[in-house]
Amino acid sequence: MKIFVQTYGCQMNKLDTNLVVNSFLQAGFELTEQVGQADVVLINTCSVRNHAEERVLSLLGHLKHIKKTRPNIIVAVFGCMAQRLKDDLLSREAVNIVCGPLQIPELVNLVNNAVGSIQKQSDTSGDIRQKPSQEQLQELDNFEQMYDSAENNLPAQAYVRVMHGCDKFCSYCVVPYVRGPEVSRAPEKIIAQIKKLAETGVKQVTLLGQTVNSYCYNGFSFADLLYEISKINGIEWIKFVTCYPKDFDERIFKTMADLPKICRYLHIPAQSGSDKILKAMNRHYTSSEYLDLLQKARQIVPDIVIAGDFIVGFPGETEEDFQKSVELIKMTQYKNCFIFKYSPRPGTKADDKLSDNIPMEVKKQRNTELLAIQEKISAEINKSFIGKTVKVLVEGTSKKSHLDETGKKEYPQLIGRTAGDYIVVFNGSADLAGRFVKVQIDRASALTLFGAMV
Ligand code: SAH
Ligand code: SF4
Ligand code: F3S
Repeated sequence: MKIFVQTYGCQMNKLDTNLVVNSFLQAGFELTEQVGQADVVLINTCSVRNHAEERVLSLLGHLKHIKKTRPNIIVAVFGCMAQRLKDDLLSREAVNIVCGPLQIPELVNLVNNAVGSIQKQSDTSGDIRQKPSQEQLQELDNFEQMYDSAENNLPAQAYVRVMHGCDKFCSYCVVPYVRGPEVSRAPEKIIAQIKKLAETGVKQVTLLGQTVNSYCYNGFSFADLLYEISKINGIEWIKFVTCYPKDFDERIFKTMADLPKICRYLHIPAQSGSDKILKAMNRHYTSSEYLDLLQKARQIVPDIVIAGDFIVGFPGETEEDFQKSVELIKMTQYKNCFIFKYSPRPGTKADDKLSDNIPMEVKKQRNTELLAIQEKISAEINKSFIGKTVKVLVEGTSKKSHLDETGKKEYPQLIGRTAGDYIVVFNGSADLAGRFVKVQIDRASALTLFGAMV
């Protein structure tokens, strides 16, 4: 039987998809890139903004249509939106299976049960805020240990979860209600998993957690974890996302400064520059505390690269509040920054208590304004790389190929990233994927560095 997979959402979902796909391959299924050839359609979903859910609903509309001629296709919806909507999704004509993000080890069984049956299948957390049982955590650990690999992922790279869930309850955010409580994984399990990955040729691991720097297992901190992972032979680069500004222990910066394998890159979302809005967002810091944090990071790790996120149009955000975000983004000098228009999420504090009172037009305009400022900053920073040589881990061939001077002959181009997460595009052969190369930069745009291998 053939499976087709579609993934929405963050890196956590990409990791889950990799695990799920490997578990299906192990169970004898095959992958197809064409939905028309699939016996089973697996959709890993995200609920973070309404738009992410709309895309899933529109895919389900398309599948309902396909099912008219191929009624036996099994459609399984899993991940965050499955946990949020449960039976509402299951009752849709196109859907056979609904499976929460903490139930993915059961997905193969659910699909096998659904084959040749009209019975719909469902497995989600009853009360998502209840801490998962020891057995459930054990099962998730085993599933991850067994199926994490560089396969179905970028060559020589793997994601590794260090914690589940989130307890921060930022007032706009759905994640605590779909991923459950924050639980750190035991360090020995994480380390065993990374050793196994390294033995199969993985060179870069990206540690994942909603607030990865808050990791703590019986007093064993995130800095301790970085230190231990650094000792693993074969692992050359260690990255981690996403950081929560409030929980930074200075030791994390010191570890980054001391250990060459830890990539000097931090993604620390600020979300807003207005203290009033930050308070309403329940973020527990002020914009000046946020700036102090970046300053401390840059002082201890001088060449550190920082990226961020902002939300525009949060309820009650006045022009004055927005201008504080403008000021903050100018001061941070991010390498890049994601900017999102506030999207009310059912069940969150912001949606319950505040009205979504900033018109879409204003959200769009603020989004465009912040993006334009960031683009200028990114372009400036990227320009400073011209003439320099950078070390790059090659991801594979870039979507666009390169034309020679005559504009007729096409060369494949490679794409890769530096330790600081800069995207680099250059000419080279596809078999370099998963290898480290040196590239001299000769051109730069706001998003990309271009150069030639040396
Ligand atoms: N755990 C991470 C990422 C959470 S979701 C963190 O705390 O940084 C990724 C980003 O989506 C957030 O940083 C935030 O900028 C944005 N986001 C979350 N909920 C949102 C909402 N309701 N509307 C718009 N953007 C949102
Ligand atoms: Fe959402 Fe806040 Fe948790 Fe990030 S820290 S996942 S934004 S609640
Ligand atoms: Fe989306 Fe779930 Fe990630 S809501 S952002 S896929 S944790």
